[in-house]
Amino acid sequence: MIDVRVRPDAEAAGVEAADLLDAAVLGRGERVLGLATGSSPGPTYVELIRRHGGNPSSPYRSARAFLLDEYVGLAADHPERYARVIRREFTDAMGIDPGRVHSPDPDAADLEAACRDYDRAIAAAGGVGIQILGIGTDGHIAFNAPGTPFDEGTHLARLSGSTRRDNARFFGGDPDRVPESAVSQGIATILRARSIVVVATGEAKASIVARLLASEPTEDLPASVLHRHADVALVLDHAAAGEL
Ligand code: GLP
Repeated sequence: MIDVRVRPDAEAAGVEAADLLDAAVLGRGERVLGLATGSSPGPTYVELIRRHGGNPSSPYRSARAFLLDEYVGLAADHPERYARVIRREFTDAMGIDPGRVHSPDPDAADLEAACRDYDRAIAAAGGVGIQILGIGTDGHIAFNAPGTPFDEGTHLARLSGSTRRDNARFFGGDPDRVPESAVSQGIATILRARSIVVVATGEAKASIVARLLASEPTEDLPASVLHRHADVALVLDHAAAGEL
């Protein structure tokens, strides 16, 4: 059963998601975070930084973090490299050392080997304790587009036209500047997290949220696989819950 929680607006949804992160890290002692980029987790990160950013003894400082995905083909210092985005928006302010923040290597000569190494690194760290996720308007999670097999681990993923259009806002509004591919955790990787917090806010997510909750698990709607996980909270604002 997906635990659906509806809050008035994106900021309140961020507070709710931050409570769930704190319950895992402070309450259950989880020390491996699964982090998402994109706009959905922004208010959650802002709230966690407000609560813990200035605290030198915060348990978050000893956490490790694994990103969901990374674009292929951007220069290492490109501002939209997710490894840079997450430092800028969350981990630096939380006092998490950059050496403890991991992402799949998009520059490896052998990308398949790099993807296998990434799954092994997550397992070696003890597995993700709490994963924060957003949802694409087509139902993708990380960069697993509709049709991606549920049993895939980290892999090279092609971005769909709709995802490149959605993400164009981070690239001067031009979908052609959005990379065509990314290395992404697979559905199987994501499902191994012990608990998952999905954040969806805004009217643009209302239709996919309603479809996801009504759907059986199907590869046509990647986020529907979350029905198979035992500990998933879906945190919405009123706008994203508008078609429920
Ligand atoms: C991107 C990311 C996903 C993210 C999704 C939603 O393509 N790869 O991890 O969850 O799109 O993005 P947003 O939160 O900005 O709506």
